[in-house]
Amino acid sequence: MRLDKYLADCGIGTRSEVKEIVRKGRVSVNGAVVKDSGAAVSEADSVSVDGRLLGGVGELKKKHWFMLNKPAGLVSANSDEKDATVIDIFKNEGLKGLFTVGRLDKDTEGLLLVCDDGEMSHYLTAPSRNIAKVYYAKIDGLLAPDAAERLANGIEFKEFVSRPAKLEILSADADNNTCEAYVTVSEGRFHEVKRLIAAVGGEVTYLKRIAFGPLKLDESLKAGEYRELSGGEINELRAAVGKD
Ligand code: URA
Repeated sequence: MRLDKYLADCGIGTRSEVKEIVRKGRVSVNGAVVKDSGAAVSEADSVSVDGRLLGGVGELKKKHWFMLNKPAGLVSANSDEKDATVIDIFKNEGLKGLFTVGRLDKDTEGLLLVCDDGEMSHYLTAPSRNIAKVYYAKIDGLLAPDAAERLANGIEFKEFVSRPAKLEILSADADNNTCEAYVTVSEGRFHEVKRLIAAVGGEVTYLKRIAFGPLKLDESLKAGEYRELSGGEINELRAAVGKD
């Protein structure tokens, strides 16, 4: 098999991205740098990228990664007895074992990653990895003047103290008693943003996730649309969890 095909099959990047990686001398076969993407590799060869050893040819199955602009009204589950799920959107892909990387509430919209890579999904959702998620929120209420400071210091709930979160008020409408804000969190607790905002005197009436770690929501995706992640984006996710 050609080296560039092997690397692409391993999920390192698209064919053109891996050619560039090979050209830059980042790939070794059996310990020696190989700069020819067309070089042949076989089962017996050890291939590394930036010193990270990949499995033997054919051993690593290509993983599938998608960015979905989740619409409101669908649950983030693989199956549900009464509601449609986001996984239903992917039925034409003919892939088994797709699941969501974490969850969004049924009424929340925006960036949701869907994949069949259990290991990476685990890392991306583990609170210890501190992956930042950014939400755009419409809020009923003008929020306490010290709201940003309180979220940054952590809010004391009955069962836990929240991790530092960032609040950036975008606009406030005193006549209608509403505001808009970006909220950045890294924990992944149930109803996390809604609970934090409630703790500082507001009620979230609309919520959309606009960034997940290094990835921003692709604004060309309409609600309910998705696209595959590029090899570069997958590498950014790997780097974010220290697996690059
Ligand atoms: N925080 C929430 O309250 N809801 C979500 O869907 C995601 C984060």
